[in-house]
Amino acid sequence: MTLQCIRCARQYDDAAIQCECGGLLEVRRSPPAVRREVFDSRRNSRRVIDQSGVWRFREGVLDIDEARIITHPEGATRLYERDGMLFKHEGENPTGSFKDRGMTVAITQAVRLGARAVACASTGNTSASLAAYAAQANLRAIVFIPAGKIAAGKLAQTLAYGALCLQVRGDFDDAMRLVLEASRRLGIYLVNSINPLRIEGQKTIIWELLQDLEWNAPDWIVVPAGNLGNTSAFGKALLEARDAGWIDRLPRLAAIQAHGANPFYRSFRDGFARRHRVDAETVATAIRIGDPVSYDKAVAAIRATNGIVGEVTDDELMAAKHDIDRMGIGCEPASATTLAGVRKLGLSGRIVCVLTGHVLKDPEVIVKNAPPDQIVEIDAEVSAVERILATAR
Ligand code: F0G
Repeated sequence: MTLQCIRCARQYDDAAIQCECGGLLEVRRSPPAVRREVFDSRRNSRRVIDQSGVWRFREGVLDIDEARIITHPEGATRLYERDGMLFKHEGENPTGSFKDRGMTVAITQAVRLGARAVACASTGNTSASLAAYAAQANLRAIVFIPAGKIAAGKLAQTLAYGALCLQVRGDFDDAMRLVLEASRRLGIYLVNSINPLRIEGQKTIIWELLQDLEWNAPDWIVVPAGNLGNTSAFGKALLEARDAGWIDRLPRLAAIQAHGANPFYRSFRDGFARRHRVDAETVATAIRIGDPVSYDKAVAAIRATNGIVGEVTDDELMAAKHDIDRMGIGCEPASATTLAGVRKLGLSGRIVCVLTGHVLKDPEVIVKNAPPDQIVEIDAEVSAVERILATAR
C-alpha cells in the first residue's frame, strides 16, 4: 500500500495525512485478487473480523495482521425495503453512524503507528465514533467541535466515551482548520476523513450494500453530502468493485446537500468550473459545512459514476425525515436529504438511500417539531384521558 497525492502524484509512507502541495492523499494498491464468493462465505462465519461489515472485506481495506485489528465489530447494517425504495441504515453501527466504518481502520492504523493521541474536528458523529474507538484502544482522544452547534445525542456520547471536548468558538470549518494545524504542530494523529485510511473503511458501505443485493448493482445510490468523505469513498468503492469484477456495471451516485450548506451543489451547477465556499446554516447540523475538505475526490467520484449533486431545503429534508421516521425506520435530519433529494430530482429505477445517522442522535429537533396535539400534559385521572381521546388525532 502507498499513499499518493491525487493532485501531484507524489508518494508517501502510510503515516502521512496530506501532501505538501496541499492535495489529498489516496490509498493506492493493486486490486484485491479476491472473488466475491469469499466475502459471501464469511457472512456465515462466527469470527469477529468476519462479522464486521468492514473487515469482512479486509483484502480491499487494509493489509494488517488480523490480531492487530481494532473492531467493535461494526457494519453489517440492515437494508430495508419500503415504498419501492431501499434504505441502507448506517445508523445501526455501534455508535449510531457510518463513521464507525472509517474509524475502525483509522484507529487500527493509529495504534500500528504508535500514536499516543488521536484528534478530529466534527459536527458530532465523527467525534462520538473517535471517542468510542479510542476508548477501546486506550488512546487519548481530543475532539474539536463547533461550540453550541452539535446535536445533544452526539455530545453526550462523546463525553461518555471519555474524549476531551474542545468547543471551538466558530463553525465546523474553523474547527477543521484548527485541528489540521494543531495535529501537524503537536504530533497528534488526525482521523478526520482527510485521512485516506478513513475512506478505505467507508468504502465497505458500498461493498456490503452490493453484497446485500447479491451483487446486482442498483440504478442510483443516494448519499448526504457534507465534508464529502462518503461521496469520495463511494466513488472509489464502485470503481474498485467494477475493476475487481464484483459488479458488471456502475450505479450512478446522487450526492445531496442542504440548501444552506451547498458549496458542492454550486460547483456542480457550474460544471465543476470552480470550488465554492459558503457560510453554512441548516437544521441538519451534521452537514453544516461550508468548505468541504474532500472536494477534489468527490468531484472525481461524481464524474466517474455519471453522478449528480442536488440540494434540498430544510423544510424538504424535515418532511422526508418525518416520512422515514413514520416508516418505523427513523434517522437524523442529515440522512433524510437522501429521500428529499430523490423526490426533488425525480429519480426513478432501483434506488438505494444511505441513511447515515440514528434517529436518537438529534432528539431536540424531534421534540421541537412534534405537533402540540401529539404531546399533551394531563392530570392523573381517567376522565382526562377520555377527554383527550375524544378530541385529539
Ligand atoms: N450524515 C451524517 C449523519 C454525518 O454525520 C455526516 C458528516 C454526513 C452525513 C456527511 O458525510 O462529511 O462524508 O460528506 N459528519 C461529519 C462529522 C462531518 O463530523 O460527524 P460527509
